Amino acid sequence: MDLLVELTGPGDLVTRLYRGLLGAIRDGRLNAGDRLPASRELAVRLEVSRNTVAAAYERLTAEGFLIGHVGKGTFVAPGATARRSSGPTKATVLRPRPDWTYRLQPTSGEQSRPEFDFRVGIPDGELFPLDIWRRLTAATIGHGQDGRYPSSAGSAGLRAEIARYLGYSRGITATGDDVVLTNGTQHGLDLVARVFLRAGDVVAVEDPGYRPAADLLESYGVKVLGIEVDEAGLRPDALPDNVKLIYTTPTHQFPLGVTMSLPRRRELLDWAARHDSAIFEDDYDSEFRFADRPLQPLHILDSDGRVIYAGTFSKTLVPTLRAGFLVAPASLRPSLIAARQLGDGHGQIQVQSALSLFLAEGHLGRHIRRATAVYAEKRSAILAALRELSDVLTVIDSSAGLHICALVNSTRGSCWKRSIRTASRTAPEPDC
Ligand SMILES: Cc1ncc(COP(=O)(O)O)c(C=O)c1O
Repeated sequence: MDLLVELTGPGDLVTRLYRGLLGAIRDGRLNAGDRLPASRELAVRLEVSRNTVAAAYERLTAEGFLIGHVGKGTFVAPGATARRSSGPTKATVLRPRPDWTYRLQPTSGEQSRPEFDFRVGIPDGELFPLDIWRRLTAATIGHGQDGRYPSSAGSAGLRAEIARYLGYSRGITATGDDVVLTNGTQHGLDLVARVFLRAGDVVAVEDPGYRPAADLLESYGVKVLGIEVDEAGLRPDALPDNVKLIYTTPTHQFPLGVTMSLPRRRELLDWAARHDSAIFEDDYDSEFRFADRPLQPLHILDSDGRVIYAGTFSKTLVPTLRAGFLVAPASLRPSLIAARQLGDGHGQIQVQSALSLFLAEGHLGRHIRRATAVYAEKRSAILAALRELSDVLTVIDSSAGLHICALVNSTRGSCWKRSIRTASRTAPEPDC
């Protein structure tokens, strides 16, 4: 990389170059141990004589800012440190817009790992089939490397494989054209919010619910309402009439773990049809099933194209892949892909190609079967331990997913506290 040196200000060329280099050291753009360009190379680039560069280097060396190593080059001296700036820096002048309230949250990867890691939603990284992934990554290393920008729809092969997988494992009838690739469910919700919602629209989320989804929606200036959840899932009778979009986790409610019953699914779809609303179905971890057969996704029961189905590989594989998808109604799809073009372009084509092969060769199904067996064992151990604590905890029944929820018993029975802040909340919090 070329070092940018300003040759402005008073004085002869040597003085100006000396000042430019000293400024770079003092500002911390050049740090102790950094190698400076060879004098001949810098002279050509700055269109000055080599003697000018050599003289500036000599002066900085004499003052202890640089050090020369014969045969190796000129380096910033170990003791040369950046000057601490006093007074306000440029960075304090700009502020986010006044209604931007979201603050960066520590991620699970930034926190130190507890000895017994019961944190929610973290798949067992040890199970990731690294050897297979290494082989498929090597086989696809050149994909998308021809210097051109590919289509924002992303890998056609991966979209077709996801459609095939959904037909097989979820009963969703789709082709690759119905699938929009995303960098995970959160990104999918972001695309939907961008193209479907306007500031001031009313959006319903489950309460208790998945906080990052509510935070994301709030960042678009929409009114987010927390809607009560009971043992059959989100309660449509608690929805106000003006809701434009309903975000729900019907197969494994986050965080309670309940599965939305079939009558409740029908009721929710009927409600959405009567109120001309859309439903965002977040199916984030139901690949891991431990008991009964899965209920049909809302997407299958939906006859008039109101459900946007979101899937992710964050739980089945690992979240760092940032790979997910939407199955969206044809009426929204082109806009969702266009929104992706506006944002991140097309995602990582090479990862998409490797994942496409991973699905095509049948590794996803095999991995899910193997991981389910491991998780089933861990789950039984946890349930057995929780049974011992039944005088203080009540486990909520659930048969899928990566976490179990238990409620603390109180004199008033066990109940859950609602967690989503909403402007419209009038009912008092349950006292438990
Ligand atoms: C309810 C819920 N939805 C979705 C996700 C996955 O999001 P992403 O695909 O963006 O990693 C998670 C992850 O923890 C989740 O808990």
